[in-house]
Amino acid sequence: MMNVVHINTGAKPKVLVTRRWPGAVEAQLSASYETTLNRSDTPLTPGELRDALKTFDAVLPTVTDSLGPDALDVAKPTTKILSNYGVGVSHICTESARKLGLSVTNTPDVLSECTADIAMTLMLMVARRAGEGERELRDGGWTGWRPTHLVGTKVSGKTLGIVGYGRIGEELARRAHHGFGMDVVVYNRSTVAPERLARNGARQVESLDALLPLCDFVSLHCPGGAENRHLINGRMLDLMREDAFLINTARGEVIDEAALAHALMFESIGGAALDVFECEPRINADLVQCDNLVMLPHLGSATREAREAMGYRVLDNLGDFFEGRDPRDRVI
Ligand code: DGY
Repeated sequence: MMNVVHINTGAKPKVLVTRRWPGAVEAQLSASYETTLNRSDTPLTPGELRDALKTFDAVLPTVTDSLGPDALDVAKPTTKILSNYGVGVSHICTESARKLGLSVTNTPDVLSECTADIAMTLMLMVARRAGEGERELRDGGWTGWRPTHLVGTKVSGKTLGIVGYGRIGEELARRAHHGFGMDVVVYNRSTVAPERLARNGARQVESLDALLPLCDFVSLHCPGGAENRHLINGRMLDLMREDAFLINTARGEVIDEAALAHALMFESIGGAALDVFECEPRINADLVQCDNLVMLPHLGSATREAREAMGYRVLDNLGDFFEGRDPRDRVI
């Protein structure tokens, strides 16, 4: 049960924050709105989310709030806006939100660099076997330097395939090309402006089938949700080179995890590195067995700078909405 603190500041819009946010942003929200904070930081149940929609003018959810048809099944909501803390909104059912006449906003831009940093971290970790090395040290198993010990794969100068050339994909391309001399190949549903590609020496190919066999590394930056569920399935994994690495900082559902576990166990690809999972926070038991897999607990935007900026971006959107402007990051 959510342990809430009501901060009553008069006749201001009533706002619910579903998880703990950085203190400075919670303070700013509390100064600007009649704010209810979730001190216990536990995810809300569908029933609590329905109650919230009947009570608050704005609900500020995040990726751990499953706002599917069940949670959005409210006859006459008081809520007018879901101002999401995060860029991905695949946890919100767009059809139900539209039916209820809700505005939905997100927080683009402010987390792009940090998420690209984590994708680069994962690429380096899996290629250089950093996870295996750390586990060996902590387990007391290191016997000292030797020429054949934990030999990995060079990253610099290799070919990187980027699936989804939005802001985060482009930031990764910048790091990979200018920092690591990588050759960047892009698959994106729409055509990317040539000048955006040229900035990072990138070229676009017309399909995922065409991209995968070209790459030493494939990094996913497309949205999640039904449209991209299991975009990377067994057939796609078979198109990857047998020494190639798959990186996912997008959404867990983009990869068929059973197919990935099979590919990792039978070493039909070189390895994978994941920051996101299909059933977070539960992890597929077969994946845990794979030594050629690096896993992080959804840390893409987890820097003080990004997490505060995400909160202030929500505040910007709320300000727009309650002062009668179109919210700057409206997705619905
Ligand atoms: C995002 O912004 O979508 C991150 O995954 C955290 O929610």
